[in-house]
Amino acid sequence: QTETTVSITVVGASGDLAKKKIFPALFALFYEGFLSEHFTIFGYARSKLTDEELREMISRTLTCRIDNRENCEAKMDQFLQRCFFHSGQYGSEADFMELDKKLREKEVGRLPNRLFYLSIPPNIFIDVVRCASQSASSPSGWTRIIVEKPFGRDSESSGELTRCLKQYLTEDQIFRIDHYLGKELVENLSVLRFSNLVFEPLWSRQYIRNVQLIFSEDFGTEGRGGYFDSYGIIRDIMQNHLLQILALFAMETPVSLDAEDIRNEKVKVLRSMRPLQLDDVVVGQYKGHTKGGRTYPAYTDDPTVPKNSLTPTFAAAALFIDNARWDGVPFLMKAGKALHNKGAEIRVQFRHVPGNLYKRSFGTDLEKSTNELVIRVQPDEAIYLKINNKIPGLGMRLDRSTLNLLYSSKYTKEIPDAYERLLLDAIEGERRLFIRSDELDAAWALFTPLLKELEQKKIAPELYPYGSRGPVGAHYLAAKYNVRWGDLS
Ligand code: BG6
Repeated sequence: QTETTVSITVVGASGDLAKKKIFPALFALFYEGFLSEHFTIFGYARSKLTDEELREMISRTLTCRIDNRENCEAKMDQFLQRCFFHSGQYGSEADFMELDKKLREKEVGRLPNRLFYLSIPPNIFIDVVRCASQSASSPSGWTRIIVEKPFGRDSESSGELTRCLKQYLTEDQIFRIDHYLGKELVENLSVLRFSNLVFEPLWSRQYIRNVQLIFSEDFGTEGRGGYFDSYGIIRDIMQNHLLQILALFAMETPVSLDAEDIRNEKVKVLRSMRPLQLDDVVVGQYKGHTKGGRTYPAYTDDPTVPKNSLTPTFAAAALFIDNARWDGVPFLMKAGKALHNKGAEIRVQFRHVPGNLYKRSFGTDLEKSTNELVIRVQPDEAIYLKINNKIPGLGMRLDRSTLNLLYSSKYTKEIPDAYERLLLDAIEGERRLFIRSDELDAAWALFTPLLKELEQKKIAPELYPYGSRGPVGAHYLAAKYNVRWGDLS
């Protein structure tokens, strides 16, 4: 039987994502023994690098997670020896044919499988897919292509992109990555729900008052203003990362853990949701600010951003799922850049205990007595549950406590980066964590009318100071649904 081999071509090899995430993730997979013995990695870009220069570039971002540095450095050398560079234009079939020749030389005598990672701007996706599929696809094994968002700007452009991709590839060759799905605690969501009797029966409108999905960064769009300005935070974070988490959180129990069964359930939830209403959305943009003698720039200070840009760098929204399980439960999303802290959390606020015997012990603020489950996706991964207990002693006073699963205390092994999991899945042909085209359509259908309305009506974002908690409008939005935002812990 012929041995198989996998060749991974990173198109856009000198870009930031490739350097910071993709090559380090490939190295981690190699280190852990997940890459086949004869794997090959090609960096593809327009620049003219030698193999040595590529290796030099990659080696600057590789890190050893393990303490045995000597072994790690030897591994790094072995890894780098399997990395090569090919210089070519993104739309040139001839250049991809040259790549094909080089790949064949490395693959000789083995059944070749080929994975292309498109780490390039969206306007050249199709050119690269055309050239890669026509001139450099595997002669006898599989060919898969990983694409990363943005998948269009709205329903129409996304639909067009899907149609074009499908001229050259079948759906099962396309791996649409959403790196939030590769994060440990996002993957753990289904385990938490479906393997613990104490959660799943409570997972509905009967017991859950609201769900909050919060993403916050304490830095601005530094250096990425050009990309960001044509997308904004709603397309950058909400329509994909937060919505994907919401779908996993709210879906019905899938028939099995198969990719198609899980994705079927996610699509159903997305299709049960109401498209976002302007009244249920608050947009903001950060402005310059001086604090402690330091000056922080406004979003529009970025030279690649137009001075009069209305692009939101912050948004809060209330979403609703019109099905039997979730009818009336607000799912509140909040995402922002240049805020006072950094993190991503899912917060589940439970209802009051009916006829609570201890009502009087909570004073006037009954809300403080309700249970809350927090899934801290990052940093410092944790799952904790806020409960009420009696303060020890002869009196009867109640206290709030936390049952806490802090990953760093429980597990010594470092959590792999999301890209490691996703690259490995793509190599293994596991599609569970990738977005199917009907999911993508459903996601855009929810956001497109709102995005168009914001643009047509030229809605001005509420300005908030760099490093603040964001626009106060977000609090009014939550208050409209009797919700108080939880603070990132
Ligand atoms: C990307 C967004 O998808 O996710 C960026 O385009 C954002 O704007 C990034 O900074 C956040 O990812 P992470 O894994 O650092 O939370």
